[in-house]
Amino acid sequence: MKTAALFHFIQDDLLQVEDRIRAQVSGYHPDIKIALELILAAGGKRIRPAVTLLVGKLISAPHERLVTMAAAIELLHTATLVHDDLIDGSLLRRGIPTLNSRWSTSATILTGDFLFACAARLASQTDSVPVIDLFSKTLTIICNGEITQLLSGRCQVNRKEYYERIYAKTASLFETSACSAAMIATASDSCTESLRQYGYEIGMAFQIMDDILDFTGQQATVGKPIGGDLRQGLVTLPTIYYVEQHADNPTAIKLLKGECLSENETATLIEAIRSSNSIKQSQIEASESAQKAILCLRDQPAVPERKQLIDLAQYIVDRDT
Ligand code: IPE
Ligand code: IPE
Ligand code: MG
Ligand code: MG
Repeated sequence: MKTAALFHFIQDDLLQVEDRIRAQVSGYHPDIKIALELILAAGGKRIRPAVTLLVGKLISAPHERLVTMAAAIELLHTATLVHDDLIDGSLLRRGIPTLNSRWSTSATILTGDFLFACAARLASQTDSVPVIDLFSKTLTIICNGEITQLLSGRCQVNRKEYYERIYAKTASLFETSACSAAMIATASDSCTESLRQYGYEIGMAFQIMDDILDFTGQQATVGKPIGGDLRQGLVTLPTIYYVEQHADNPTAIKLLKGECLSENETATLIEAIRSSNSIKQSQIEASESAQKAILCLRDQPAVPERKQLIDLAQYIVDRDT
């Protein structure tokens, strides 16, 4: 299923989210507006704002504040992508050239900062101090995760560190996408907690799938470069499984010692992982997280949004984009 079909029921709400995002940049430097328009027009799956909208609608959150929060979430996500592509030196995103491929480093950093600021402003317009607090905390978790990955997380085969890393960089924002909607709806503590956990589980599944697609995906479908993680010394779940099961392989030994690989060794290892069982094992793990997410919805009312959140969890592990 493509996201267009999946989000059919919230199509109008998602358009309102985009309008709210666009409204943030009017009155500033025209190039900021042009950059944001290009990024928005290139697409993006809009999964995080969809989570906020669906969770909020499931439990009858007030519509305007929900749209505002969903816009804050998508804009925060967009800002992290602008900075992530600069940090990774990545030239393609959503099938179009990245900002850093066309602009100077300074202009890219400042545009990312601008988008972060707009996202924070939107979060503040929910008029909920706990939501603003959660939003800021999430940003500190993401940045701390990225700094940890940059300074100490390269070339390391460590499962615990991997889960912490993917929580920080991805699942934390999914968790906040769901939890903030529950907070806006002033849901009970137990309801908020189960929806937070739904967000956490789909977030973990989402990043495991992203890490799998970095081995198995097609650049034309995924819209971003493939095979970059290991080349940048980033050890993800498929590599961890592979190395654990081929502990006598010289390249695996090198990685286990925390040593970085040459381009030749990396290319050979990527091929080996691609055709190994490690991909399937990682997919199973992502599917288990999606199933746990679906279980978190068991006490929710049997309204269409509940089914759509179930379908969303399933889509996350079935996707090829
Ligand atoms: C990309 O997220 C960044 C990750 C956390 C892996 P998405 O794959 O949701 O990016 P878009 O918004 O659809 O482009
Ligand atoms: C990006 O993760 C996470 C953040 C932007 C915080 P990735 O580096 O895996 O995302 P892609 O693969 O570039 O989309
Ligand atoms: Mg990246
Ligand atoms: Mg990735």
